[in-house]
Amino acid sequence: MCGVFGYIGGPRAASIVLEGLRKLEYRGYDSFGIAALGKTLHVAKRQGRIPEEGFDIRGLAGNAAIGHTRWATHGVPNDTNAHPHLDCTGKIAVVHNGVIENFAVLKRQLQERGHRFLSDTDTEVIAHLIEEVYEGDLPAAVNAVLPALEGSYAILALAKGDKRIVAARNRSTLVIGIGDDALFAASDMTPILEHTRRMVVLEDGDVATLAPASVCITNGGAPVDREEEIVQWSVEDVRKGGFRHFMLKEIFDQPAVFSEAVRALRNEELPGIIRDAGRVTIVACGTSYHAALVFRYLLEEKCRVPARVEPASEFRYYPPPLEGLVIGISQSGETADTLTALQMAKARACPTLAIVNVVGSSITRLADASLFMNAGPEISVAATKSFVAELAVFLHLVDVLKGGACAYELDSAHLAIEEALLLDLTPAVACCRDATDIFFVGRGPFYPIALEGALKMKETSYIHAEGYAAGELKHGPFALLSPETPVVAICVPGETYGVMASNIREMKARGTPLIVLGQKDDRDMQEISDVFIPLPFAESIAGLLSATVIMQLLAYHTADALGRDIDRPRNLAKSVTVE
Ligand code: G6P
Repeated sequence: MCGVFGYIGGPRAASIVLEGLRKLEYRGYDSFGIAALGKTLHVAKRQGRIPEEGFDIRGLAGNAAIGHTRWATHGVPNDTNAHPHLDCTGKIAVVHNGVIENFAVLKRQLQERGHRFLSDTDTEVIAHLIEEVYEGDLPAAVNAVLPALEGSYAILALAKGDKRIVAARNRSTLVIGIGDDALFAASDMTPILEHTRRMVVLEDGDVATLAPASVCITNGGAPVDREEEIVQWSVEDVRKGGFRHFMLKEIFDQPAVFSEAVRALRNEELPGIIRDAGRVTIVACGTSYHAALVFRYLLEEKCRVPARVEPASEFRYYPPPLEGLVIGISQSGETADTLTALQMAKARACPTLAIVNVVGSSITRLADASLFMNAGPEISVAATKSFVAELAVFLHLVDVLKGGACAYELDSAHLAIEEALLLDLTPAVACCRDATDIFFVGRGPFYPIALEGALKMKETSYIHAEGYAAGELKHGPFALLSPETPVVAICVPGETYGVMASNIREMKARGTPLIVLGQKDDRDMQEISDVFIPLPFAESIAGLLSATVIMQLLAYHTADALGRDIDRPRNLAKSVTVE
């Protein structure tokens, strides 16, 4: 998803912004660009990734600069559609994250008034609208234009002759960083962290004017005070820490992430709305949706609370009859579908709870109450540690609701994760790396773990992978089973062990290469499988966590063996802020 970053302070503005844009890379992007303001306004932009070397910014002199990483929504990824966008005079530059929903109407009107458009983007209308009202005072011009814009935006603007950056926000996060002698504005805190921990998160309708030594925030034209936060995430948290990829680092972070999530939650009062919830609807997307499916099992089985889980993208157009608490789960707190689903729940007077990683994100601002995952920044596009942190939050909730029923798991599950991290998955990777299709199967709460395993595999390795409830495989997918189609099956002790073992035998009869995750001393499964992976602590909650870690590592190492761009898979974005 697009990212914006602006800096005003010393003379190296363009190079600071370029470095900041690299920190936003994890959001996913297809082009980038910078505008710098010195005596005049200079722009450099390009399709593709920011090169390690060879992107010449020597011409971009000045002590204020704005930059952008673009993830195409309006117009193909090319140099022209890359931001910043300029007005007709070349004096006003704008970068934007979000979608201007009424841009087509605005563009037609502007063209009728003689404006020339160069790009196919929605953003360019903003530069031309500012041009029409700009009389040497950029904040005034931006304020005058905003009422015409419908949709979401985090905008940064520069104008020749005005030594300020103007930042505006509506439904798209914008964070201001306050340094000793510089100011920053960004789509999230990651590019700001190495400069300062002092941050202010803007609210919808806010316009911030960044002058070299002062920031002024207004809303609807009137000055407003916004609380300054001291962010605790360290610079090291947003770096790879010696690992070859962020994904691997984040997988290895998980024992600590799990324990930290639990520790932080135990110090908090549980919001009353969850204690009183008679019935729960959960909305989420992607990996968070899979975590939500595990949550449903926990709520229903352990707490006898009826729970319904909906992909947020479906919920918003086909909402079920709503009753009781609605929970939105999101690592980023910015996923557009989850945000809208919660808005709808609020509009229907349902109490809303957000379970989110990023403090100050849009979803936390909307919900009646929030619980945080405390997982630290997740940089790899493929989510890993946030999934484990989400499970930690759910277990904590169940524990509180059931008077300490999960205390043992909460205190010990990190050990299961640690053991899973030590497993040698080389034979399983050898089985997967040449496949074109892989099935992942499980039963009960291990079914969503299978779904997540398949998602990780397709996201990172680009191998087609499907997650199935094990009993469903014979209702169609069996037609695809062959010696070229590996199946990854989770077979754990408990009520479904017998039926799962039968399913696995049925697959074996079709010549399918079998990778089985099972209890350490399960002789039957060791014999029947082509690759047997012993699950540390196979039973209960610890089994869910260790199976999760094995799935993540299997995907990671398979993708690595295939030479994929693991942290930034093609066509994907970390934070999906459009429908
Ligand atoms: C994108 C990411 C996924 C993530 C999903 C939901 O598709 O690539 O990794 O699971 O969004 O994100 P959220 O931030 O709402 O958990």
